[in-house]
Amino acid sequence: MPDIGGAPVAKARLAILISGTGSNMAALLYASRLPDCPYEVVLVASNNPAAPGLALAAAEGVPTFARDHKGVPRADFDAILDAELTRAGVTHVALAGYMRLLSDGFVAHWAGRMVNIHPSLLPAHKGTHVHEAVLAAGERVTGATVHLVTPDLDGGPILGRVRVAVAPGDTAETLAARVHHAEHQLYPRVVAELVSREVRPEALLDRVRALALALPEAEERLTHGTPGFFVRGGTFFARWSANHHGDGRTAVLVKASGVEEQAALIEQDPELYFRPAYLGPAGWIGIRLDTGAVDWDHVEDWLTRSWRASAPKRLARLPI
Ligand code: GRF
Repeated sequence: MPDIGGAPVAKARLAILISGTGSNMAALLYASRLPDCPYEVVLVASNNPAAPGLALAAAEGVPTFARDHKGVPRADFDAILDAELTRAGVTHVALAGYMRLLSDGFVAHWAGRMVNIHPSLLPAHKGTHVHEAVLAAGERVTGATVHLVTPDLDGGPILGRVRVAVAPGDTAETLAARVHHAEHQLYPRVVAELVSREVRPEALLDRVRALALALPEAEERLTHGTPGFFVRGGTFFARWSANHHGDGRTAVLVKASGVEEQAALIEQDPELYFRPAYLGPAGWIGIRLDTGAVDWDHVEDWLTRSWRASAPKRLARLPI
């Protein structure tokens, strides 16, 4: 078994957007305080300064942001919101009763990292007045769904669902209350799964491997017990590094042009780049993958560059 490492990873930094009560926000927050939860709640934001959930978040010591959206064009409002999320170092967003359509730009920016909870078994009963619709349709079973947010309202890929029986005599209110209980179980679990999926060393290595092996004549071989990638007829161009000598980092190591560029990169972004042990003097650079928000295009660019520097001449000239 190759050692892919058990480096401690940074927790995902979750923002929760609410417009009202915020009971799902509370469920996400309290779950985050249990041992081993892979996310922390770093911001609760609202388009409704009177949302009761804001007061709860503040009482719990969670930073809040509130701005009334009225009179502010949607794209401008979302830009303000986005700036707050960036300021708070948010990596993921959970919508929890956020009753405002989001602009396409905002949705695109958080694609794959923004989820919503909806009180039905999607794809059934999208939109509002869900419990009334469930009762009117004579459903015996309803539930709750967590899905990724896409421009298609309540239509993004489903990440998890939980079933709730419709009981005899249920009204929209009694049903809503029970569905809420189910939502509170579902939401923290699905958010935890989503953020863990991205930051587990196994998942990160899978992604690096897919990018590295997509390069011409690239192969994988263990080097010093950890996975490395080399070009046939050439040399290693990337190495996996996870908790190397207990350094606590999960990273991919690639070749920079030399120690000068290496130093410049580290100075430019010391949270992302580091000088790896052993390979550092040879001009390699470590790119951290445990930051909670990996820019995979950037990793791909580096792998390609490093591949080119390692490939035999006949390959290095190939347009990629
Ligand atoms: C929940 O039913 C959720 O499914 C829907 O809005 C409601 C929010 O409730 N999107 P709360 O504010 O979390 O109590």
